[in-house]
Amino acid sequence: MDKAVAAGRDIEALVRDMTLEEQVSLLSGADSWTTNAVPRLGIPKIKVSDGPNGARGGGSLVGGVKASCFPCAISLGASWSADAAYAMGAALAKEARSKGAAVLLAPTVNIHRSGLNGRNFECYSEDPALTAGLAVGYITGLQDNGVAATIKHFVGNDSEYQRQTISSDIDERTLREIYLPPFEAAVKKAGVWAVMSSYNRLNGTYTSENGWLLTTVLRAEWGYDGIVMSDWFGSHSTIGTVKAGLDLEMPGPTRDRGEKLVDAVRSGALSADFVETSAARMLTLIERVGAFDDPEIPAETSLDTQEIRALIRKLAADGSVLLKNDGILPLAQARVKTIAAIGPNATVARIMGGGSAQINAHYRISPVDGLKALLGDDAVLTAIGCSNNRLASLVETPLTVAFYQGTELAGTPVHVTTAEASDFFWFDMPNKEIDLDDFSVRISGSFTAERTGLYELGLTNAGLANLFLDGERVIDGETDWKRGNNYFGTGNDERRATVELLAGRRYDITAEYRPVDEKEDGINIRAMRFGIEYVLGEAEIDAAVEAARAADIAVLFVGRQGEWDTEGLDLPDMQLPGRQNELIDRVAAENPDTVVVLQTGGPVEMPWLSRVRAVMEMWYPGQELGHAAADLLFGAAEPGGRLPQTFPSRLHDVSAFGNDTIGYPGRDGHVEYREGIFVGYRHFDRTATKPAFPFGFGLSYTAFRWGTPVLSATTIGEEGVSVEIDVTNIGTRRGSDVVQLYVGETDPQAERPVKELKAFARLTLDPGETRTAGLSLSLRDLAYFSVEDQAFRADAGDYDISIAASATDIRARLTLTLERNWIETP
Ligand code: BGC
Repeated sequence: MDKAVAAGRDIEALVRDMTLEEQVSLLSGADSWTTNAVPRLGIPKIKVSDGPNGARGGGSLVGGVKASCFPCAISLGASWSADAAYAMGAALAKEARSKGAAVLLAPTVNIHRSGLNGRNFECYSEDPALTAGLAVGYITGLQDNGVAATIKHFVGNDSEYQRQTISSDIDERTLREIYLPPFEAAVKKAGVWAVMSSYNRLNGTYTSENGWLLTTVLRAEWGYDGIVMSDWFGSHSTIGTVKAGLDLEMPGPTRDRGEKLVDAVRSGALSADFVETSAARMLTLIERVGAFDDPEIPAETSLDTQEIRALIRKLAADGSVLLKNDGILPLAQARVKTIAAIGPNATVARIMGGGSAQINAHYRISPVDGLKALLGDDAVLTAIGCSNNRLASLVETPLTVAFYQGTELAGTPVHVTTAEASDFFWFDMPNKEIDLDDFSVRISGSFTAERTGLYELGLTNAGLANLFLDGERVIDGETDWKRGNNYFGTGNDERRATVELLAGRRYDITAEYRPVDEKEDGINIRAMRFGIEYVLGEAEIDAAVEAARAADIAVLFVGRQGEWDTEGLDLPDMQLPGRQNELIDRVAAENPDTVVVLQTGGPVEMPWLSRVRAVMEMWYPGQELGHAAADLLFGAAEPGGRLPQTFPSRLHDVSAFGNDTIGYPGRDGHVEYREGIFVGYRHFDRTATKPAFPFGFGLSYTAFRWGTPVLSATTIGEEGVSVEIDVTNIGTRRGSDVVQLYVGETDPQAERPVKELKAFARLTLDPGETRTAGLSLSLRDLAYFSVEDQAFRADAGDYDISIAASATDIRARLTLTLERNWIETP
């Protein structure tokens, strides 16, 4: 039994005092978000909460208790700052506690492999070293403040396509060099307390029952002493998962443990040691988060402080990447009398991606809100231009939500509540008397058309539903219902209807819903969403062009949003959705001073790039989006980000795309990682393909001079070496630069990338200030994984050290010699 005594408490003795049933009860959840308590022995339950960019608490995916919304992971990844990640982790510990949670289900450290992963936004980078550095900062920030991090998803959940069943077929070297290192660093450098297994299979076996992964690698090799929990409904067996080292089945109540696990032990099919060991690990976690001493799970509250607001605003700027700037940015406030804020992301604040990372933010500052706060209302002209929705816009007027016992909407409602938007996700029922499998809901409200013309309604439902306008059914979400794209693949594809409405008239809008008992994959989600929107056309593009003409500067707020960049669904391509490319072309043709602010969860093709003066990528930067956008455009803040992912000129330059779909998204239940270790810039280097913007790239509002780098020694031994380089801010304003260190073997015997990121340092400097970046290298940083040796190994010879500002902007080259072959002894 590992970790028998945690912080003075005799865990081993406690396990011995427990009955088998009590031990087993610790190994599955009680409900969606808590573990089971053992009151007889004073063992409390603990609560877990999503997710990476905020603490949602136990509420529904939408509409839970309000929480602070932080930048998404790719934005934090773009900061290239472990300190920023630490600060975010530390703040999230407070957020988690405000929701009564002792465990945060974050960070997500899967790798940007294809660019089309729906959760690309939720992951830091295409590079394992950058991902690892940020994860270590984030986890340490959380755990230093007493909240457990849960690094996820272990491993190979790098796309959403068929994620519950697909096998990610990854050779061992690739796993060890690209996909595992962030987890390894989290264990060895941050001492992470929890790991979440992924949904997918790894080389044929579910990760939740993969003994090689969960026990051999994670525990025996890396020395991990924390718990492994399943992803939600991602555990599929009783003996298999327990034996492999999966401690906690989530969510509860149990499906495969409880009595089944007790019977397995009693019948001799499974040794009691496995259960005892996992129970001990659970107790260690409970001890680590301080729950024995403070067992109360308080009611959820909202924490909304100036300090957190300021941190989010700063992180948003630090993660924004200036991709192009001919000098137009930052804009001079005195010279801009009017600014046209154009595009589908101008007035709507796209602050986060979709799926389990969603939280109910305290508020959302849109770019237009932010610009108006800075410049005054009159200075900002707005025009939507076109839509970038995947689903019809939500109805955001007060709605009455009436719950009925039984699926027939019969009798009087047993519970009535209200909602602010037409988006519903029922994890747990608002009233404990309502049976989750035997209820129905009627949602009613009204919609006033602003204009006369065609409107489109949309309905998508996990369960069966209908949508009515003025009492008449406009969308049938029942007949021939089948699983499609939404709600993690458990809802149908959105069904649409077009109606003609009159300006100023109020229409009653009603939706009716009932769940279906369809427990495929163990997941039975109860959710529904409906929307209505005016059908945009030529007139809106013309109005945008008109606004651009009338203003001194046109800023296009374009990109995607959380309906595209979402868990449960991959992207169809790397294009801006809808007519946005056309909108940008038309606006840029009208106003020569056009700037593009992009919001996407990953790379996007930019056919209009040469026709605009500046492009800034802001990702999904959290609730302060609009303030951060105004800060950046007008220079109160500097875009400090560097790309954590290569932006290719076209999708098919990405190495996951061969001619065959087996490489991406997968076929016949398998996705083969055929490109092996050549992910991201490693592939662009190898094939000498020019990306639109390389990994590590980003411009600044100031200028820097880099001195001559100095290596502490020209040969490397066990103690490693370091490189120091002076960086001076030679511009006139404060700004940040990122020094990147790549290593490549000069004359490799094994197949190796040209270079690989191994260290980085972000420096923030005042004008005229010089600071020294210190970067260290260990022997492991020179190594590749040798399958034959079953170890990391570095061959004797010379290594090229590149000191660079991006993967294609190498400022200095140094040579380091390894005199003898090195093999890592576990
Ligand atoms: C996601 C996890 C998440 C869990 C709980 C799953 O769908 O993959 O990342 O933590 O749900 O919401």
